[in-house]
Amino acid sequence: MSSNIDSIQSTIDQWATHEKEWALKYLIQFQQNMKNSDELTLDHHHDIKHISQSNNNREDSESIITQKRSEQELSESIETFPVYDRKNPFSARVLKKERITGDASNKEVYHLELSLQGSGLTYQPGDILGIHHDNPPRLVQAILTHFKIDADAPFFYRDHLRIAESILHHLVEITSINAMLLKKYQKLTDHEGLQKLLQNKDEKLAYLHGHDILDLLHDFPSDITFDQFITILTPRYPRLYSIASSMKKVDQQVHITIRTVRYEIKNREREGACSTFIADRIKERQLLPIFIESNKGFKLPNQPQHPIVMIGAGVGVAPFRSFLQEIDQLESSKKPESWLFFGEQKRESDYLYQSEWKAFQNKKTLGRIDTAFSRDKEQKVYVQHRITEQQSLLWEWIEHKNAHLYICGDKNHMAKEVQESLKEIVRKHGNLTTEEADKYIKTLKREKRLQLDVF
Ligand SMILES: Cc1cc2nc3c(=O)[nH]c(=O)nc-3n(C[C@H](O)[C@H](O)[C@H](O)COP(=O)(O)OP(=O)(O)OC[C@H]3O[C@@H](n4cnc5c(N)ncnc54)[C@H](O)[C@@H]3O)c2cc1C
Ligand SMILES: NC(=O)c1ccc[n+]([C@@H]2O[C@H](COP(=O)([O-])OP(=O)(O)OC[C@H]3O[C@@H](n4cnc5c(N)ncnc54)[C@H](OP(=O)(O)O)[C@@H]3O)[C@@H](O)[C@H]2O)c1
Repeated sequence: MSSNIDSIQSTIDQWATHEKEWALKYLIQFQQNMKNSDELTLDHHHDIKHISQSNNNREDSESIITQKRSEQELSESIETFPVYDRKNPFSARVLKKERITGDASNKEVYHLELSLQGSGLTYQPGDILGIHHDNPPRLVQAILTHFKIDADAPFFYRDHLRIAESILHHLVEITSINAMLLKKYQKLTDHEGLQKLLQNKDEKLAYLHGHDILDLLHDFPSDITFDQFITILTPRYPRLYSIASSMKKVDQQVHITIRTVRYEIKNREREGACSTFIADRIKERQLLPIFIESNKGFKLPNQPQHPIVMIGAGVGVAPFRSFLQEIDQLESSKKPESWLFFGEQKRESDYLYQSEWKAFQNKKTLGRIDTAFSRDKEQKVYVQHRITEQQSLLWEWIEHKNAHLYICGDKNHMAKEVQESLKEIVRKHGNLTTEEADKYIKTLKREKRLQLDVF
């Protein structure tokens, strides 16, 4: 079979581009039939979608094709819902996409509402939504240019014939690199400079942060070909987002809060793959491949008599919107006492969901909110400073009211420092040694009274 495909492919290579595209389409189909595959995979779907795009307007063809797929899925799912998961994502319609940071903000944060109608998918507050994104077209183009190949040049990737653009757009990670990739690239190129970098742990770690695969090609040049390069690339993985809604409130919808990743290194603007896919390339009414994963380690208490303390910075506040929407639907007598600590840069432009917290307070769904806006005054104020200011009351809630504590957002700094502040409160108010305070925090975690959703 492979020699057959090789000879067809070498003939195709001689043809003009538009003929090549259609021939490739049928070659993909042929190859697929030979493999006895019953249905189009998402990846084949992408290849064929791409081929059809060359004669059509890109946006129209994308939405028509994904819409057709979804309509088909919808009609198939009327009686029995297929199992939608990471490998078989559901095409969810985007109902609303709204920027929720002001013009004066340093950040671009979007609130996204998706329809789960026809999916059979359900979730609990604290669960996670996964999105399968497409990679940034500018970076895809720059890599093609580096290798001096056409977007529609055919290549085998993982035993399937693909066009180059599709491989870079849908199938591999291109915006970030990892230690394994560096090693594989070094093995392939035998680059002396890279060998030196790999031997220095700190330099290696620094290089991994913020660099992409084009940096690798530029910084450690070699004569490897595109075919060789794609074999070592990491398969594209979906990005995860904390769910910001409750089904009790929004029914067949799911909401998330996404900060767009944009930064500049070496005079080149960088775009986070999934967050800019949402910010720049997805519009309301389009379809988005998604799945839901449960997060057992971040759940509201079973008993309403336990108060909740929610500590979130930036988009880390997202799951607390989900918690409060859930609590909002309870009878007054069943609503737990609740307290939200929220941190962001500027009150004027970054107070995410401000009016909703106010409404929750008016309805006695949210008892108290303490904010830490780090850039409104000269001296930085963070959520852990607010926690320390309220230490007596917080200790009362933890020790005497069995409060459940939740921390969401930055893993490396905020979450660590908040836990240190909590430990200090416990040590001081419980008259404990440092070791005993440490044990106290560990017990809170073991009893699921301190839960973390950090990234
Ligand atoms: C459980 C979980 C829940 C999450 N919930 C949310 C959520 O609710 N909202 C949300 O917005 N995100 C959330 N995230 C993060 C999210 O999954 C993505 O990581 C994020 O959107 C970035 O993905 P991306 O594809 O846009 O960027 P990528 O293409 O993955 O690029 C990100 C990479 O860019 C680099 N980078 C980023 N900023 C800079 C910078 N300033 N300088 C240098 N390098 C930089 C880093 O190396 C980083 O690894 C969550 C993650 C997890 C694991
Ligand atoms: N993978 C990615 O690239 C990606 C994409 C999106 C979000 N995220 C992560 O998601 C999390 C939230 O990001 P975000 O931009 O919404 O918010 P963020 O960066 O966590 O910022 C929110 C607030 O926290 C403050 N802060 C900074 N350092 C802190 C510390 N040590 N302790 C407590 N507060 C601190 C910030 O202040 P100042 O800014 O004034 O210092 C700001 O006021 C972060 O972990 C972020 O890295 C990652």
